[in-house]
Amino acid sequence: MVTIKSSREIALMKKAGEILANVFDKLETLCIPGTTTKHLSDVAEKMIRDAGAIPAEKGYYGYPAAICASVNDVVVHGIPSANIKLKDGDIVSLDIVVSYQGYMADACRTFPVGKISPAAQKLIDVTRECFFEAMKIIRPGVRVGDIGAVIQKHAEENGFQVTRDYTGHALGRSMHEDPSIPNYGTPNTGMPLKEGMTVAIEPIILEGRKETRVLSDGWTAVTCDHKLAAHYENSIVITKDGYEILTTNGGKI
Ligand code: MF3
Ligand code: CO
Repeated sequence: MVTIKSSREIALMKKAGEILANVFDKLETLCIPGTTTKHLSDVAEKMIRDAGAIPAEKGYYGYPAAICASVNDVVVHGIPSANIKLKDGDIVSLDIVVSYQGYMADACRTFPVGKISPAAQKLIDVTRECFFEAMKIIRPGVRVGDIGAVIQKHAEENGFQVTRDYTGHALGRSMHEDPSIPNYGTPNTGMPLKEGMTVAIEPIILEGRKETRVLSDGWTAVTCDHKLAAHYENSIVITKDGYEILTTNGGKI
């Protein structure tokens, strides 16, 4: 279902996004050697609930945790665990959805743990750049294929691959609404976006081959070649002349 949001609905999504940005500010300080991904999830869940909101991933199609914490070759949907301890040189993607008065904000950051390799830093940087490359063309009328093409081009120009298995998406009262927004595509194809649509743009970029597979827990997606994956995501609203990022507290994005 494609929906156009009222200014009231957009304000609620912004509030959800502000709570989420505050959570990232806190979790970034905890991405140090020795922290377990379970601890990151517990801290996030408490902050979200204390703010009067809900961690919407918990229970979504049976997903068992409040956040996704995907380390190194885990692409998406890493389940937080007391057995997964961050170590020097890791990268960890934290993908979180906050629901505030029934409205969702979805974002992801990939943080370094301790001192990481230049190759890992480049992957993190290019993944974030892919998002901002896409923002350069966002305005009413931009088509889904235009967005995917820009993200794919920037990733491939830097020697990386985009996943075909997970996509961005519209969102609002539901975590996933139509249209899907793949990280690859052909210009001038796909649905045109309109003012008032709210979408999550989420480059998921792989250091090696593009193939992924899901582990036997039914959730954890890993790269087939066990090379690194990075993920960067914000929820945005399409405005009259461009866009506004919803998942921010006015600080670093
Ligand atoms: N936050 C993810 C996204 O970017 C979805 C997570 S699936 C869940 O769309 F089961 F963990 F909620
Ligand atoms: Co998303």
